[in-house]
Amino acid sequence: MLVYPTEPDSLTLQSGPIHALLRGRRGLWEDLHVSATTPVIEIRDLHKSYGELEVLKGVDLVAERGHVVALIGSSGSGKSTLLRCANLLEDSQQGEIVFEGEPIAWRGAGLNRHPANRAQVTRIRTNLSMVFQQFNLWAHMTILENVMEAPVTVMGRDKAEVEQAARGYLAKVGIGDKCDGYPAQLSGGQQQRAAIARALCMEPRALLFDEPTSALDPELEQEVIKVIKDLASEGRTMIIVTHDMRLAADVSEHVVFLHQGKVEEEGPPDRVFGNPQTDRLRQFLSATAPA
Ligand SMILES: Nc1ncnc2c1ncn2[C@@H]1O[C@H](COP(=O)(O)OP(=O)(O)OP(=O)(O)O)[C@@H](O)[C@H]1O
Ligand SMILES: [Mg+2]
Repeated sequence: MLVYPTEPDSLTLQSGPIHALLRGRRGLWEDLHVSATTPVIEIRDLHKSYGELEVLKGVDLVAERGHVVALIGSSGSGKSTLLRCANLLEDSQQGEIVFEGEPIAWRGAGLNRHPANRAQVTRIRTNLSMVFQQFNLWAHMTILENVMEAPVTVMGRDKAEVEQAARGYLAKVGIGDKCDGYPAQLSGGQQQRAAIARALCMEPRALLFDEPTSALDPELEQEVIKVIKDLASEGRTMIIVTHDMRLAADVSEHVVFLHQGKVEEEGPPDRVFGNPQTDRLRQFLSATAPA
């Protein structure tokens, strides 16, 4: 099983052979000025509209390094939109998105606001790897090819090295024997685990999950939940949108309850689930399965 390296300590890895090794291995740790306490993602006062419809109405969210944030809320509250804005799949009209202390550069304003720097967008998007509800695997590629695709074509990494890593990640999520299969030959739970291996193979700084288990039968769901729990216990930074309150309570350090495009309440899971402060959260929790 591959062991994910722990995050570098900026004070001790400025130079020397370990630093060189890490640079060679991941190519992502050049910016060692980023302190271990800098949040991986910081979203401040984010506003997002689709035409007339304002979906995010000034949202703040912080994902600390090594923490899991669970994002909960009713259907239509803006959870997926927030994740998609965070990794720049969607434009937003106001507010800041800061990745490891680096603010996104914008040009224009309001509905004409777009990221100003393509290279920054690619770098940040590849560092915030998304796992979707509907796995989104390429049907015409084998599982191994699916996992290798982005690191080789988008990131330009060495093919042999990526293949070795991809096989390792597929083994890690328990489907090392499916490398040569096609998505249609796998169960839903196996396809979702392949999608998680694909996200891991980007060697991202954070994983963003959008309801990773809700398309699965309960039995298959457990296979995926186990993988997510393993990743959380490795200290990976993750934001997980989920309707599974038990999963949210089990894996997260911080729970954010989104209601109609605003953060209505947030806090540690024991408080959010055990002692909700607002009527809206109480209503939401009573309408979902108990944590
Ligand atoms: N591409 C789009 N164009 C127009 N409106 C959209 C678009 N995507 C989402 N919306 C609207 O934005 C609002 C928030 O949608 P979003 O998908 O973020 O909700 P959600 O909290 O993820 O819901 P669910 O739990 O059902 O996945 C909804 O009213 C939705 O109809
Ligand atoms: Mg959604």
